[in-house]
Amino acid sequence: MSEGLVQAAYIISALLFIMSLAGLSKHETAKAGCLYGIVGMAIALVATIFSHNTDGQGWIIVAMIIGATIGIHRALKVEMTEMPELVAILHSFVGLAAVLVGFNSFGLHDITPFTAPDGISGEMMNAAKAKYYAEQAVLTNIHNVEVFLGIFIGAVTFTGSIVAFGKLRGIINSKALMLPHRHKLNLTAVIVSLLLMVAFLNSPDNIFPVLLMTIIALAFGWHLVASIGGADMPVVVSMLNSYSGWAAAAAGFMLSNDLLIVTGALVGSSGAILSYIMCKAMNRSFISVIAGGFGNDVQISSDEEQGEHRETTAEEVAEMLKNASSVIITPGYGMAVAQAQYPVAEITQKLRERGVNVRFGIHPVAGRLPGHMNVLLAEAKVPYDVVLEMDEINDDFAETDVVLVIGANDTVNPAAMDDPNSPIAGMPVLEVWKAANVIVFKRSMAVGYAGVQNPLFFKDNTQMLFGDAKERVEDILKAL
Ligand code: TAP
Repeated sequence: MSEGLVQAAYIISALLFIMSLAGLSKHETAKAGCLYGIVGMAIALVATIFSHNTDGQGWIIVAMIIGATIGIHRALKVEMTEMPELVAILHSFVGLAAVLVGFNSFGLHDITPFTAPDGISGEMMNAAKAKYYAEQAVLTNIHNVEVFLGIFIGAVTFTGSIVAFGKLRGIINSKALMLPHRHKLNLTAVIVSLLLMVAFLNSPDNIFPVLLMTIIALAFGWHLVASIGGADMPVVVSMLNSYSGWAAAAAGFMLSNDLLIVTGALVGSSGAILSYIMCKAMNRSFISVIAGGFGNDVQISSDEEQGEHRETTAEEVAEMLKNASSVIITPGYGMAVAQAQYPVAEITQKLRERGVNVRFGIHPVAGRLPGHMNVLLAEAKVPYDVVLEMDEINDDFAETDVVLVIGANDTVNPAAMDDPNSPIAGMPVLEVWKAANVIVFKRSMAVGYAGVQNPLFFKDNTQMLFGDAKERVEDILKAL
């Protein structure tokens, strides 16, 4: 493929990626958004693989077949609830790729010897030669900065994503790691890396500063994410998404690939915007989260004795629902685990047929990925107009007869508002306890994702309905 054709293909791909992001921002256009992304990526791959700059197509295709086989196998098997883990581990691959590209392009900026233009000689030729080598020295420096930064961002993304994967999967404790002087450690890592960059630029043939920086960056990425508590994980996942974009953009600079730069910048900036939106939704400082929980030194306080809880049965809840005129359902991660959205949709329909005003209240970080609950409810064909965002419904709980909290915990925890020492203090929550009756569906008195006890379960107007959410909702359906 000629250079012109490759560049044309890259422009079309870049446009498709922008259209994809625009499409993904709304329910109605999300499918089209996915399709644009797929077509854009297919065009980009074909153009890159068959470009005149690429050798060893056979090897690339073999590697792609192996990668695609593993990828398709995993993606088909992955549960919706495991999606953030998959995303986190995929980000780690982007980080690793940037590190490998960085080491591969180390010292690759060869300077072609000066060739004198026709018709000049003597003084003029010496001046042209000096200018040429001065320009080449600047370009080599720029290339070396790209290599250094690319490896740094890639290494931070790599280990940070592995820790995020471990925390989401429960292999690594989701509580924030609180090393003494942790902010000073982070600052030292950044300053030492900067000094190493200066050393590297001064003697570009010496790989030692790059190797040392890589080790520091790997440890820095690990520590950065390990020191962020469970409740802030949604922000971390989108932040790593952003880092992986910048790592890809850095790889694009190293490889002089314009499309990789554009795509990396799109992912990097959209990830950063999403992190910012999530921080606002959770009332967290963006800077504090990206700096590894900076200023977030409060300790967990809520393990103290909370009092007695009351239990109820599916039959009693069915009776309560029959007599209610307004019901709000606040789903959470447990509804996704139990796959309870289908019987929940049936109950909604039944109650609406009886004239009960049934609505849903969706917390921005309910579940394990942005929009998780909206996707599940849409899948079960719950009408969009009864599914409301937290801000739209929070004032209505006081006039509500029954709230069904289905597998939600942190997102309905009053400690976020009442206990300034709670790890989730300040996070806006669904104020379900203001309703006349609250029914909490869960299997035990266990804590939610943030590892904090929930005083809601011990309030006078709350009753616990224990068991798998799907089974309990089906029991209620039968009783109705
Ligand atoms: P969580 O606080 O995670 O609580 C879910 C509850 O569901 C648990 O207390 C669990 O209690 C219950 N549960 C689990 N399986 C169940 C089943 N089969 N049947 C019935 N109940 C079941 O949920 P949430 O309120 O949705 O909050 C989300 C949390 O995840 C927040 O802390 C958020 O920061 C974090 N997070 C969110 C995201 C995004 S982007 N949404 C990403 C990562 C992390 P039992 O074990 O007792 O049943």
